[in-house]
Amino acid sequence: DTGMFTYDPGFTSTASCESKITYIDGDAGILNYRGYPIEQLAEHGDFLETCYLLLYGDLPTPAQKADFDYRVTRHTMVHEQMTRFFTGFRRDAHPMAVIVGCVGALSAFYHDSTDITDPMAREIASIRMIAKVPTLAAMAYKYSIGQPFVYPRNDLDYAANFLHMCFAVPCEEFKPNPVLARALDRIFILHADHEQNASTSTVRLAGSSGANPFACIAAGIACLWGPAHGGANEAALQMLQEIGTPDRIPEYVAKAKDKNDPFRLMGFGHRVYKNYDPRAKIMQKTCHEVLSEMGIKDDPLLDVAIELERFALKDEYFIEKKLYPNIDFYSGITLKAMGFPTSMFTALFALARTVGWIAQWKEMIEDPSQRIGRPRQLYTGHAKRDYVSIAQRR
Ligand code: SDX
Repeated sequence: DTGMFTYDPGFTSTASCESKITYIDGDAGILNYRGYPIEQLAEHGDFLETCYLLLYGDLPTPAQKADFDYRVTRHTMVHEQMTRFFTGFRRDAHPMAVIVGCVGALSAFYHDSTDITDPMAREIASIRMIAKVPTLAAMAYKYSIGQPFVYPRNDLDYAANFLHMCFAVPCEEFKPNPVLARALDRIFILHADHEQNASTSTVRLAGSSGANPFACIAAGIACLWGPAHGGANEAALQMLQEIGTPDRIPEYVAKAKDKNDPFRLMGFGHRVYKNYDPRAKIMQKTCHEVLSEMGIKDDPLLDVAIELERFALKDEYFIEKKLYPNIDFYSGITLKAMGFPTSMFTALFALARTVGWIAQWKEMIEDPSQRIGRPRQLYTGHAKRDYVSIAQRR
């Protein structure tokens, strides 16, 4: 007994890839990173510990953790020339548009990370991405509000540093709120990896050609941006704001059930979870902690969210389709209470998921049997037919 899973042949025949990183049981609502339940990692660990676990397969010893934290912390600055990239963007550009561009541009800066056949290059690329994506995300936010960029600080932990880079201003000292920093660190853990979701599959497919790892992560960020995927946290908050009051919930649930209406309840449903998303439970608890820390007694958006969840989970359509809240349902309320604009919600998802993309990319690249991805298709178009000159077309 190696402690490793073994699957029935029927399942293996439909899987797109094998992986040892993340396990989801959608029917039971289970999510484990390298065998450790998400509830325990979120409760007891910190995000960089989860990063180490996802990348290297085991929880770090104290010495390994200290070394990993040191290496990530000392790569949080970006090349100073990156600051000039931002001046090319409109101030009102969506932060995800800016981040896609800037993370892709990292592939133009770090030539010692591009030879992916070299384990050291892969290692340094991984550390750099985990370290630098938050800095670029914070810079995108600062640029959008016309404030100066704030450099990372080596005396702050990962989440506190991100709060600092987003909310500090040169005019006064900024002390990250430790309760918010701990809550944000936990939110990063919840978003770190999720097996073969759309953006991770994008990174794997892009990486399978041997492409520059920074460019592959940029491809993952682009895919995550969609409202059906990581963009759902922004869309879910906008939906709650549009619903506005609990008495309008039946009208919106009816729209969500109407096949002729493209409206979907954002933050609800999942391709794999046919039970409650375990991350959503932890997110809801974190939401209450953050609202209480911010002194927000009754948030009307939370009232709508709780009533919408109660209403939908009793509805026969949602029961039949096994639609439950997913990670995006409560995250927007939490991030808004922390002071982030809705436009930054998916950027936070992206910076947390960067480690999952990299861990999955590394696993694929280091698999000796790995070949370029080449999904096959079922052709349903025209049979062979001869060319007709334009003069004869009617
Ligand atoms: C993430 O894959 C991952 O792991 C993603 C993610 C990760 O960590 O990487 O978990 C992050 O992307 C979470 C999902 C965020 N997206 C949303 O909240 C957007 C709203 N949700 C839906 O768009 C939908 O649920 C999807 C896109 C998430 C999944 O859609 P699927 O796979 O097409 O279908 P499903 O199994 O969820 O739905 C089954 C049925 C369908 O109806 P039928 O075609 O069978 O008639 O339920 C319907 C859907 O139309 N349905 C919904 C619904 N979600 C699904 N109806 C109304 N409201 C919804 N939210």
